[in-house]
Amino acid sequence: MAEKKSTPSLMDNIINLCKRRGFIFQSSEIYGGYNGFFDYGPLGVELKNNIKQAWWKDMVQRRDDIVGLDSTIIHHPMTWKASGHIDNFTDPLVDCKESRMRYRADQLFFAPVIVGDETIGYVSVLEDENMQTAAEEQAKDLKRKLGKQGEMKAVVLKDYTQARPDEYALIPSPATGKPGSLTPPRAFNMMFQTYVGALRDETAVAYLRPETAQGIFINFKNVVDTGRVKIPFGIAQVGKAFRNEINPRNFIFRSREFEQMEIEYFISPDADWASLHKGWIEYCMNWFDSIGIPKTCLSTYDHPKEKLAHYSKGTTDIMFTYPFGVQELQGVAARGNYDLTQHANTSGKSLEYFDDSTKTKYVPHVIEPSVGVDRIFLAVLSAGYHEEEVEGEKRVVLKLHPRLAPYKAAVFPLVKNKPELVARAEALYKKLQNRWNVAYDAAGAIGRRYRRQDEIGTPFGITVDFDTIEKDDKVTLRDRDTLQQIRLSEDELIAYLSKKIDG
Ligand code: GLY
Repeated sequence: MAEKKSTPSLMDNIINLCKRRGFIFQSSEIYGGYNGFFDYGPLGVELKNNIKQAWWKDMVQRRDDIVGLDSTIIHHPMTWKASGHIDNFTDPLVDCKESRMRYRADQLFFAPVIVGDETIGYVSVLEDENMQTAAEEQAKDLKRKLGKQGEMKAVVLKDYTQARPDEYALIPSPATGKPGSLTPPRAFNMMFQTYVGALRDETAVAYLRPETAQGIFINFKNVVDTGRVKIPFGIAQVGKAFRNEINPRNFIFRSREFEQMEIEYFISPDADWASLHKGWIEYCMNWFDSIGIPKTCLSTYDHPKEKLAHYSKGTTDIMFTYPFGVQELQGVAARGNYDLTQHANTSGKSLEYFDDSTKTKYVPHVIEPSVGVDRIFLAVLSAGYHEEEVEGEKRVVLKLHPRLAPYKAAVFPLVKNKPELVARAEALYKKLQNRWNVAYDAAGAIGRRYRRQDEIGTPFGITVDFDTIEKDDKVTLRDRDTLQQIRLSEDELIAYLSKKIDG
């Protein structure tokens, strides 16, 4: 396997491939694009649907203890009062009054420049993997410009939320390089607001959900009363969520409209939540590995107590080594009974559960594995993208798991001017299409047809050739990753594909 490197150019290659082959487009491109929004093209929607279907199958349908839900995107606004999102779902915002740029204060870093014992000024940079070097360069420039002699102390960066009030006016804006235009940080609520109904006043304000989780909590009683669920059990939901990010970045990693797959796994207050929490982390990491996000690219990060979300007793992120650095792929939070208690108190309805096995009533606690579909999409592309040399030619290949690949196979007639051969290939294509999403390509040299499919991750190429019609009734199956070719009859082919694709 080719050596993989975490470099910005890998990210550029992935973005280019996504555009070139119709996986992802910038939203509203014909109007100049719309920052933080992305559209999934013909191949992207297939890959995305396959990710969601694989998750639903493994997390809901193949488990006896998890059921599904599809709640609305807009809930009663009291939901967000109760959940704490109206008061707490904020990011620290800082404005540059001169350039009108806006930054997340925790992504804007600054440092005093100290020469000898004198602070000669400040430098500022936006968070990225090269920010320390950039800040040191700025500090040297400042020293040179001011003609200061003496030894410069180490440049120690802090984020802007840690700036003292007397420093605000001294820290340069990253937009202009000059101090005096940055405001103090203020809490910016990330929920998108809208109005429901014909009125446009405060009573009509509603919110697009910033997480799918609350739809689950407000339906907890419905599911318990109508299903045959018994604690411990989970409710799973897949759906869109919206966050008015101050600084959407890294392609689809942090966007303003995205899709979540969340489970609220309800447990007894007496259960050992810490070991259940650990169990879920392991389970999710194994699942990622099973769909082609290798464990070697995964790690974990425990949120420090002082940085936990307002609802959390403990959160561990499963991290993935993206081309732009190690970042959160999935959060696994222990939310205690915070949410159900808040909704019970706010609605006045009991959300207690009667436990038949212990004859006790309680408000269950919850473990929440929460993952973004778009982040899995990007992880799958990052892990699967390879450039290799094959038969003296460079090929781009997406080594996607067959479960996720947009096309499971591509059927090729070896030549397109032999009607009998083409008819056989078309018949096979139609037959396979009844079961899987399959491509058909008759144009160009066979090697070029393989390359076109390699680049979009099609795991199997199936060629109908002269031997098929004249000799053995078999086709050639070529494996995208090993490049090995085997000859199979139609029945053998279908059995082979079933095993590889459906497991
Ligand atoms: N429900 C957790 C999250 O959206 O981050």
